[in-house]
Amino acid sequence: GDPRLEAISAAIRVVPNFPKKGIMFQDITTLLLDHKAFKHTIDIFVDRYKDMQISVVAGVEARGFLFGPSIALAIGAKFIPLRKPGKLPGKVISESYELEYGHDRLEMHVGAVEPRERVIIIDDLVATGGTLSAAMSLLESQGAEVVECACVIGLPEVKGQHKLKGKPLYVLVEPSGLDEFC
Ligand code: PRP
Ligand code: MG
Repeated sequence: GDPRLEAISAAIRVVPNFPKKGIMFQDITTLLLDHKAFKHTIDIFVDRYKDMQISVVAGVEARGFLFGPSIALAIGAKFIPLRKPGKLPGKVISESYELEYGHDRLEMHVGAVEPRERVIIIDDLVATGGTLSAAMSLLESQGAEVVECACVIGLPEVKGQHKLKGKPLYVLVEPSGLDEFC
């Protein structure tokens, strides 16, 4: 395969039992420390989206903020932060999503996106797909067209794709041989 993907995989640190027992945490801070692997990550997304008439990159707080703006600048798109509750000062729309215990919410500024704009949604990792699904709902509620969701890491054992209602999901690397991830 693409040797860049191997470099990206190798740069992601797996931390067992964080943040709790049984979870194999996928730590992308080590990817950010590796200039080559970090650049490969951005380059692969940019090559994929540069000619797809994407005018918006939406990133999910917090770890989606580490990748989205670099991609947006390189493809000539604007960046929209999708934030955790209570952080945005303007008029917002909100979308709740399920967590293992309880639920959380994402918010977006009204007016950040125009109807029919073509959007990609970026995050570091997809597990259940609940986060990306909420992000999609926010953009689509404003009439935007979500072209694809994109993540650095996709966890294969989970139902992420199912929750995305058939919307294309693009992931760079899939860890394997592990029981549980986060
Ligand atoms: C993690 C990760 C994704 C999400 C994936 O974020 O960065 O955003 O979980 O899980 P899902 O597919 O099951 O929804 P988290 O909410 O832990 O917080 P952070 O990005 O702010 O660190
Ligand atoms: Mg996150």
